[in-house]
Amino acid sequence: MSVPVQYGSSLPRNSSAASAPQGPPAAPESPPNHFELQRRPLTAEEADQITRSIRDSPNITGYSPREWCGRRDTFVLVDRSRRRIAGALLTHHLAGTWSEIAVVFLFEEYRGRGLGRELLQGALRTLTATGRRYLLFFSSPHMERIASASGFRIYADEAAFVAGSARRKLFLKVIYKAQWLASVYRLREIRRKRAEFSSAFDFKVGVLTTGGAK
Ligand SMILES: CC(C)(COP(=O)(O)OP(=O)(O)OC[C@H]1O[C@@H](n2cnc3c(N)ncnc32)[C@H](O)[C@@H]1OP(=O)(O)O)[C@@H](O)C(=O)NCCC(=O)NCCS
Repeated sequence: MSVPVQYGSSLPRNSSAASAPQGPPAAPESPPNHFELQRRPLTAEEADQITRSIRDSPNITGYSPREWCGRRDTFVLVDRSRRRIAGALLTHHLAGTWSEIAVVFLFEEYRGRGLGRELLQGALRTLTATGRRYLLFFSSPHMERIASASGFRIYADEAAFVAGSARRKLFLKVIYKAQWLASVYRLREIRRKRAEFSSAFDFKVGVLTTGGAK
């Protein structure tokens, strides 16, 4: 099922210029509906809601309120009828040509109706215009379906992604890990979730190169 999403002025659909968050409102392509995708930092209140929910999730390591509030590139899916956010996506642009789609998150009551796919694909329509390569680590089967439907190539684990490539190994084990772990918040959450939820954080890896997004 695909739920049509009304794209906000900050995210004109199919526009290569959409990476610029400002600009005139885009003409809607379809009748207005309840959901709007916006590229913007979360408010402190929204960040508090999302970090509190993610703290209860054994499968997501976690990003700090500061990262949600402007330190990272974030998209929010707004439920306009209820004047609240239905979910959000956080992108971590790493040094070099890689970026990580680090979190795709919907509040529980919004799951199971295709909004996760809309959130990821809507963000990718903007992000892939920059020509970067995108990484996605995940463990949920829903996410695997959404990722492969969005053009990601899926690897069973980090070893399969590296598969004998010294460059990929250097990137993943050194460059990526150093940037990803450079967060006291994340280190603390990983330790807590391993202890409280026995989280193994055994992730599959999705890779999207320019031109692969749908
Ligand atoms: C992961 C998440 C974003 C998915 O969004 P969603 O809108 O709830 O996704 P849907 O329920 O529409 O399911 C997506 C796909 O998974 C499929 N799916 C549902 N249950 C499934 C299952 N048990 N096994 C395999 N696939 C399943 C759906 O059929 C759908 O595929 P389709 O569109 O081809 O039919 C959302 O569930 C979420 O926020 N979860 C918590 C956070 C999280 O774990 N994020 C991922 C890591 S960053």
